[in-house]
Amino acid sequence: MVDEQSKPSPQAAQAKARIEAVKRGFEQRRNINQKLENIGYKIGVYSGKGGVGKTSVAVNLACYLAKQGHSVGILDVDIDCPNVTKAMGMTERATIEDGTVTPGEQYGVKVVSMSYFQKSEDEAIIWRGPMIHNAINQFLQMTEWGQLDYLIVDLPPGTSDGPLTVMQTITLDGFVVVTTPHFLSALDAKRSINMIRKLNVNVLGIVENFVGDIFGKGAGETLATELQLSFLGGIELRSEYRMVDIPPVLRVDEIEKEYEAIVAAINTAIASKN
Ligand SMILES: Nc1ncnc2c1ncn2[C@@H]1O[C@H](COP(=O)(O)OP(=O)(O)OP(=O)(O)O)[C@@H](O)[C@H]1O
Ligand SMILES: [Mg+2]
Repeated sequence: MVDEQSKPSPQAAQAKARIEAVKRGFEQRRNINQKLENIGYKIGVYSGKGGVGKTSVAVNLACYLAKQGHSVGILDVDIDCPNVTKAMGMTERATIEDGTVTPGEQYGVKVVSMSYFQKSEDEAIIWRGPMIHNAINQFLQMTEWGQLDYLIVDLPPGTSDGPLTVMQTITLDGFVVVTTPHFLSALDAKRSINMIRKLNVNVLGIVENFVGDIFGKGAGETLATELQLSFLGGIELRSEYRMVDIPPVLRVDEIEKEYEAIVAAINTAIASKN
């Protein structure tokens, strides 16, 4: 017979479950921080607007830094459309063995992508907030990055569940926000910056992509001035981006120069925030 007096009340059981959940969360965070402790700088690339060139900036930035002799990783946390492996022309995947994820490597950059969850390239996975949180947590706890100077994190667009969950799960040193030269895109970028600031994360500055005769120039720089942020640099719209296997920063001198300026501005922004 069950002794009614020794049975915990529903409230006590709920309180115990809550404490256990907090403990688990704390443990996870500790594990993640331990996994990421050998990384110099963790930089997110983000914009509220889709298709402005976040993945392109993340990939070319990482490849430029690796070419300069830095140890670099990219974490692709765009759950719906993880494109980093394609933008880097990768055939080698990360391996998962005995609970450890070993990143794939291309052009000296270590790559881990949410695309490793997909069975095929065109498969769509519907993720809900807690699933995204768990998947990212799991990846972060399992991945052996080793020592890295920079980890670049490519975020999904928007201000909804996906990017928000990523921002709350990974403690980043700062964000590079990408906009096009059009004022409407800059308006979205402004929204993104306000969201990042609400989460108390640094914004390192703004990059303006697709600069040139077609889309014009200037909205990124104007926004940077308005929000008292660094303008990290402009990137021209060029036909050389059509070929995706080799990131253009590795084969076009003018693009390498653009990234040289952007990296210098990022380093200045990081130094001024420390
Ligand atoms: N400066 C540029 N000149 C020409 N094409 C570019 C340039 N930057 C990016 N692109 C191209 O524009 C397209 C969109 O870029 P990308 O995938 O990087 O955007 P995104 O912001 O990551 O998109 P999403 O919101 O879907 O993640 C790609 O085909 C990319 O190669
Ligand atoms: Mg992208």
